[in-house]
Amino acid sequence: MAVSDWKKSVVYQVYPKSFNDSTGDGTGDIRGIIEKLDYLAFLGVDYIWLTPVYESPMRDNGYDISNYYEINPEFGTKEDLKALMDEAHEKGLKVMLDLAFNHTSTAHPWFVESKKSKDNPYRDYYIWKDGTYDSPPTSWESKFGGNAWQYDDNTNQYYLRLFDVTQADLNWDNEKVRSEIYEMINYWIDFGVDGFRFDVVNLLSKGEFKDSDGPGKEFYTDGPRIHEYIHEMNRRTFGGKEIMTVGEMSSTTIDHCIKYTAPEREELNSVFNFHHLKVDYPGGEKWTDASYDFILLKETLMKWQLGIHEGNGWNAIFWCNHDQPRVVSRFGKDDTEENRVRSAKMLAISLHGLQGTPYIYQGEEIGMTNPGFSRIDQYRDVETLNAYDILREKGYSYQQVMDILKKKSRDNARTPMQWDGSPHAGFTDGEPWIETAPNYPEINAEKAVADETSVFYTYKKLIEMRHEMEILTSGDIRPMLMKDRNLFVYERTLDGESLLVIANYSDKYVAWPEEVARDGEVLISNYDVKDNELRPFEALMIYRK
Ligand code: NOJ
Repeated sequence: MAVSDWKKSVVYQVYPKSFNDSTGDGTGDIRGIIEKLDYLAFLGVDYIWLTPVYESPMRDNGYDISNYYEINPEFGTKEDLKALMDEAHEKGLKVMLDLAFNHTSTAHPWFVESKKSKDNPYRDYYIWKDGTYDSPPTSWESKFGGNAWQYDDNTNQYYLRLFDVTQADLNWDNEKVRSEIYEMINYWIDFGVDGFRFDVVNLLSKGEFKDSDGPGKEFYTDGPRIHEYIHEMNRRTFGGKEIMTVGEMSSTTIDHCIKYTAPEREELNSVFNFHHLKVDYPGGEKWTDASYDFILLKETLMKWQLGIHEGNGWNAIFWCNHDQPRVVSRFGKDDTEENRVRSAKMLAISLHGLQGTPYIYQGEEIGMTNPGFSRIDQYRDVETLNAYDILREKGYSYQQVMDILKKKSRDNARTPMQWDGSPHAGFTDGEPWIETAPNYPEINAEKAVADETSVFYTYKKLIEMRHEMEILTSGDIRPMLMKDRNLFVYERTLDGESLLVIANYSDKYVAWPEEVARDGEVLISNYDVKDNELRPFEALMIYRK
């Protein structure tokens, strides 16, 4: 693959709806992103990834696309996008778009046609199956709750929708669908984009349509023709061009991810997997307020690090995105300002020592927290609102559901970016589409940039290190003290150099472990001087040659 820099790059994810509003309508927009490019260039990231900005009814905030070729007027115009790309390029930043083509919105003209009759030329663009009114074709569950098939009384058939009822799954076994999608990808390549994030791209190939004992994932996850389709997409679109690609992989395996990213297979540059973020899903259940399993977090991260390294694949490394709660509230501690700053830096240091392409989600670089919503009317997310109904039907009390959503809702990540201490954190002059976290007077970008000891500068330094240190890119990794209940420790090594990463995930003092040498040069840390103990949330990277 021609693109050469994705292994040393750091990507910043922008959720346009919540980033910066330039018009005062309460919703972020592309012009608003342009206003903040200097901030991103100062942070030092290489790529900006925008979640979908195409025409969409916005049931799932843009992941329900109704026209792949037009920009949602809420976000601006194609000229705005062009201007964003031009100005980003002038500042040395590249722009990645997000494409969701496992499904389209049911408002997409293809689906509108498809729904009309069984012999419509677009019928086979989607997955329609027989079933009776109260008995869907299979028992599969939607990722957003309920059965994954939606009945249509016009033709007495069901269409598959692995996500919302308004997100109908495309039929990738239909060659015409694939060609339409490739044409569209080429359109955006010609437009000048630098890369793509592909939404749930390992779900494209559906296998057999059979009942399952569980939610049915085994029939469509990394399905039978998935590698063939991704390879074909590569050959017919971005392959051989300076285009960086990352595939979002749902419930995938290391073996598949090696296949998706091993260069000789000509599929993708890199993948996201989410196993390390399911460590607070006891028994696989997301909707609980359980705290996370630290040992499982370490085991999962290390299993993937070793497996992908050995197989010559390539991973994205990340804590946060628009679907995940804020990491400082999740694996750190946000009860006091001291704990918040220390644990946010510790989490950054312990992640950015790993192998892979680091991703930073807007606001993570200033240690933004979950907003602490306590009422259902504060939430906007379709998955959250579905979960609310389902949990209430199951008999959970209102308060129990609020406690769960406060920890797990995707809206935890979607509150407005906190720019400064002015009303609504400087995000908008109007009323924001979702409330701002109340802590914006203390936690905001203006304050963070003005304070060289802030979380922001830890991220800035880690980005510089990623650019400069080959050991971070290609060094081997050795997990250490895997059974330790407080410390996350590993060593990267390359040609006689070593980089030790040691992080105390607890708010207690922990003795420096005997097995770990303390000598060497501290390259980054969240405390001023080294001590005999590891202090609450202390983290260091120590270099030796
Ligand atoms: C993953 C996206 O990140 C998420 O926000 C979306 O709801 C689903 N895919 C469906 O497109």
